[in-house]
Formats: sequence, structure tokens, C-alpha cells
Amino acid sequence: MLQPSYDPVGDSFHESKVSRYNAPPSYPLEHRMSKKLYIETQGCQMNEYDSARLSDLLQMDSDLIRTEDPAEADILLLNTCSIREKAQEKVFSELGRWRKYKDKRPDIMIGVGGCVAAQEGGDLLRRAPFVDLVFGPQTLHRVPEMMRKRRHESQKLPVVDVSFPDIEKFDQLPEPSVQGHKAFVSIMEGCSKYCSFCVVPYTRGEEVSRPFDDVVAEVAHVLSLGVREVTLLGQNVNAYLGHDHEGRKVNFAELLRCLATLPQLGWLRYTTSHPLELSDELIAAYADIPQLVSHLHLPVQSGSDRVLAAMKRNHDRSYYLNRIRALRAVRPDLHLSSDFIIGFPGESDEDFEQTMNLVAEADIDFSYSFIYSPRPGTPAAAWDDPIPAAAKKARLDRLQSRLAISARSKTEAMVGTRQIVLLDAVSSRLPDHLAASAFNTRLVHVNVADTTQIGRFAEVQIEEALSTNALRARLLQIYS
Ligand code: SAH
Ligand code: F3S
Repeated sequence: MLQPSYDPVGDSFHESKVSRYNAPPSYPLEHRMSKKLYIETQGCQMNEYDSARLSDLLQMDSDLIRTEDPAEADILLLNTCSIREKAQEKVFSELGRWRKYKDKRPDIMIGVGGCVAAQEGGDLLRRAPFVDLVFGPQTLHRVPEMMRKRRHESQKLPVVDVSFPDIEKFDQLPEPSVQGHKAFVSIMEGCSKYCSFCVVPYTRGEEVSRPFDDVVAEVAHVLSLGVREVTLLGQNVNAYLGHDHEGRKVNFAELLRCLATLPQLGWLRYTTSHPLELSDELIAAYADIPQLVSHLHLPVQSGSDRVLAAMKRNHDRSYYLNRIRALRAVRPDLHLSSDFIIGFPGESDEDFEQTMNLVAEADIDFSYSFIYSPRPGTPAAAWDDPIPAAAKKARLDRLQSRLAISARSKTEAMVGTRQIVLLDAVSSRLPDHLAASAFNTRLVHVNVADTTQIGRFAEVQIEEALSTNALRARLLQIYS
């Protein structure tokens, strides 16, 4: 495996992937920091993953310690999301709060990363001139170097680097530290699909897959630290196509098959997948990889062929339904969740009814559904959008109530069944219970008071539905 090779001094980001992971820091000690670091993460799981890796990197690079209190931090980093306008606005309201800390203590450093940073670049400084660093999703491994530059006597200006240096960031980051029994592993970055409404290809760049051997090594590493459940991450995770050490291309289904041979692996999840990449081979994997959980998040966005075409999704509704049918033929207990965009420019009542029908036909019981938000630089942002806001809101409410009803009925159908669950944490709902996750991702409160059992799989008898997505269960046995 290629070792992470973060070089703390030189401008060597384009050097070959030589390991310097164990090399002692060669910059003067007085430049090292013993300060407090606060990182706030907005948006998707990829941002969560990026923030965790950035935190590992900064702590390895210096004697920074994490704090959960922004008011006492010396370095504040905001990992941002720009998928919808509201998400983007949250960035500036948070920065407004941070500005007050800086007014009191001008020596603190404020950095903004993620998709808003990628989109705005140096322009972000016009709205927030007190920001010291602007880094993108692909340059977060350069943050320690950017911080040093910013601190340097001669550097009076904020440091901005939102470039897309391919997949190099993974080679520059240390192996992840893991807390607990669940881990995310990012396997590909970016998106080349260019849906007409979406900002991701512009902020995260085109699809790039990590080398196969690196992914396998990272999964093996987290498993060796006690992880039982791994979630593979990517904007279009099932478009994965990575090279192995012989230069052969390995696709997503092959990657899953390989990971399933790792003995410590309990459950395997992935997100977010794209319908066009749900290949026959991937469907077949559900027949013979028992570690693959019976839950798939497969965004469809709309049930109307007209809207799907305008969104440039490159498939129609019957394609989606046929894929789901094929999947359920090999995995009948599959729970399906999806993403919907409501009120896309020109979406008629009839189009929306098609979405409601698709929810029923595909038997979708959970979704992330939002009203369409025009994003600067995307084709759809220039289109006429005659639908009144109130109509969009009414459609969204109808969709969400429909989904809640079907989620509730699926949850209730689990009452009386035996399930394997993963014991996750102390239950915040019931005393002397642990909160666990089921194979289909439902939340299950199990009558186990012993917190040393967290991280173990257990067989339980489901006794009661507590809410739309939560159940209560009685312990049958705990697996070692
Ligand atoms: N790769 C995934 C999507 C990732 S983006 C796919 O195949 O669709 C995450 C979700 O954000 C999308 O599924 C979409 O539902 C939502 N989204 C993206 N752009 C949006 C916009 N302009 N307005 C509202 N929702 C949007
Ligand atoms: Fe966005 Fe479409 Fe890619 S929703 S992330 S452009 S698949």
C-alpha cells in the first residue's frame, strides 16, 4: 500500500508518492502550535469524512488539541456545503458569529473549506474579509502548509487554494484514527454526471477513484482497529473504477467482493449511489455478499420522465423501477430510500403525481426530499421557474407524509420478528437500553444495560414500534 506522505515543509505536493509518513517534522519547533482546534462540519457524509481526516492530519502535524467550544478555539475551521442556497447561507451566519471571536482575539485563525469555499474561492473574502484560509474539498491536506504560510511574517494576505489536484489528497493524509465500531471510507471523489440542477461537479470536480489497493488497505486498517461496519463513500460511489497495482481496472462490484473476504468485516454499506451505475454485477453481489446490508439509498429525484430528462438524469422512470425489481428478486427484504427534488422548474401537478406513484411502486420508505434550489452556474438556474412557492411546499408536504406512512408501516411490520442488530450507543430514549441499528437501518432500543457490549452484534426479538423509524426489542443473544 502507498503510505500517506504528507510533507510538512516543502512545496512537494506534486512529487511522486514517496512515503515520508514516519519522517520527523523538519521545521523549527517554535512554528509548531499547541493550540485549540474547532472544526464545524456542514453537509454530507463526505464532509464528515474529510473533517475527520483533516483533524487527524492537524493533530499529527502539531500539538493542536480539539475543542467542542468555538469560543475558546485558536483555530476555527468550517467545512461547508453548497448543495442548496439555505446550506450556503448557513456558512455566512456561522462566520458572522466567528467574527466576534476574532474581534476579541485577532490572533485566532479562521479557515473555510468544502464546497462553498470551492465555489467562491477568493470571492468569499469579499463577504468575510476576516477569513484567513480558503481551501477546497481536494486541497484540505494542504491546510497545515497554508496555516504556516498565513502565519509567516511576509504573508499578510489570506491564503486561498481551491484547486483540484486530482486524488492526491488521499496520499497526503495520515491513516485514519477510528473511534468506535463504525467507519467511513471515501473511495471516490467528485461527479461527472452534471445533472442540470447540481453544483457538485463544479465544487468537487470530476469523478476520480482511489486506487483499489489503497481502499482495501484502509478498510483492513479500520477493521484492525475494531471497526465492525464500514460505509464506503462517494458522490457516485457505485461509479467506482480504481486501478489495482497491476494497472487493472476494478469496478465497484469487484471491490465489494474483495472487501467481503476480510474476516473482521461485519456489515458493509455505501452511499450515495446512482441508478445508472446499478449494474447487473452489482445486483448479483446482493445475492452472495451477506455483509451487504438490506438497505440501499438510490436517489431518483423525480418520477416523471419529462422532469428526469430536463434534470439530465439520463434514465427514465421505468429503468429505475426495473432495476429495483431486479434487486428485490435477489434481496426481497431490501429497504429502499431515495432523494427527491420537488418543484423543479416546470414540474406540473401531473409530473408530481408521477413522483407520488413512483414512491408507491418502488416501495420507497425514506427520503431526503427538498424543494428545488437554483444554484449559480448550473444550467437549470437560468430556466423559467413559474411554480409558486406555496405549491412547491404543498407538494413537498404531501410527499413527506406519504413517506412517513410507509416508513411507519414497514417499522410496524418488523414487530414480532427476530433481527440481527449492531449495538451502537447508550439509548437516549429508554433507561438501561442500548441503541442499535438493524440490517435495514431501523433504530432499535435493546434491553442491554452493559455498555461494554457496544460494538457487538446481537440477535433480538422486536417487541414494539416506538415511532416511524424506531423499535424496542428484547435481547436473545450477543455475538462475540
Ligand atoms: N449522486 C447523487 C446526488 C448527490 S447530491 C445522485 O445520484 O443523485 C445530494 C442530493 O442533493 C441530490 O440527490 C439532490 O436530491 C439534492 N440536490 C442537489 N442539487 C439540488 C438543488 N439544486 N436543489 C435541491 N436539491 C438538490
Ligand atoms: Fe449531483 Fe447528479 Fe452528480 S445530483 S452529484 S450531478 S449525479
